[in-house]
Amino acid sequence: MRRGQTKYTEVGGIPELRAAVCAKFQRDNGLAYEPADVLVSCGAKHTLFNMAVALLDPGDEVLVPSPYWVSYPEQARLVGAVPVAVPTQEATGFDLDPERLRAAVTPRTKVIILNSPNNPTGAVFSPASLAAVAKLAVERNLLVVSDECYEALTFEGRHTSIAALGPEIKARTLVVNTCSKAYAMTGWRLGFAAGPRELIRAMTDVQSQVTSNPSSIAQWAAVEALVGAQDEVARMAAEFDRRRRLIVGGLNALPGVSCVMPKGAFYAFANVSRLFGRTWPAADGTAHLKGSVDVTAFLLETAKVAVVPGLDFGSDDHVRLSYATSEALIGEGLARMAAALARLA
Ligand SMILES: Cc1ncc(COP(=O)(O)O)c(C=O)c1O
Repeated sequence: MRRGQTKYTEVGGIPELRAAVCAKFQRDNGLAYEPADVLVSCGAKHTLFNMAVALLDPGDEVLVPSPYWVSYPEQARLVGAVPVAVPTQEATGFDLDPERLRAAVTPRTKVIILNSPNNPTGAVFSPASLAAVAKLAVERNLLVVSDECYEALTFEGRHTSIAALGPEIKARTLVVNTCSKAYAMTGWRLGFAAGPRELIRAMTDVQSQVTSNPSSIAQWAAVEALVGAQDEVARMAAEFDRRRRLIVGGLNALPGVSCVMPKGAFYAFANVSRLFGRTWPAADGTAHLKGSVDVTAFLLETAKVAVVPGLDFGSDDHVRLSYATSEALIGEGLARMAAALARLA
């Protein structure tokens, strides 16, 4: 700001940042891009919406492995496209199911949206399933949107970008990432993408009519984050790994609750379906737990613990908990949930 870098910039991002994004993709993902293949936006959410507006026509189908991050289907709907949820299984740790994806492809299918590490499940998709989806996308002429926002928080396995599996799949993949998670820069609103140049150009045109450039100040901060030393990221990931074990161990010790170990991101996706049918004394009379929304209300009112109903993510058997908070608060939350559950009839 003192250097006066507070004015409009190029719509798609300052050259220094687009070069830094290219260097990041090369360093972390083995992906070679040029600055013209890159667009910088006001958060990855904005990146994804630029894609939806630039690419999707009314009636186009978008395959969304389920459970999914809430904005994928809503953004598709906002532009008249049709989100198609394709279930994954808890038993496989919510890994991608390439055969189900293949069966869901129709002549209207345009895009497959992948998100690994996954919000809400914490799944890190296996290299074999990614390779199978890459093959499918190439065969059926589909575009892959690979949301890799939680890449830095991969605790088990190795993060693989599907775009790195070969030139054919790279040519049809939009890789999306953000400064929000790896650098805890959520409020700076800085996301970025690289992919087929024509698509990047179209997304840039959309952005130019909506927001113009992301904040110049955030862009310069992002240059620093991306090219500076990365050791803080690893330190933070090690801390999240400890929290992950704490929260998942605690959840599995709660009666009626089970939780698969997430391999990445910072969420626990707990199965609460064994609580369904139980009752509790709500302010307005005896309440039955019938689904994830009821369990959320019960935990909020009785334990003063905020979780998110799985229904919003495509699974009513689950609730999502974030462990992007201190070990002390996680411990306190677990203790309160245990006390609340003991009061269920
Ligand atoms: C899977 C996923 N993608 C994208 C985003 C958007 O991140 P931002 O817009 O802050 O870059 C989030 C944020 O929660 C997310 O969970």
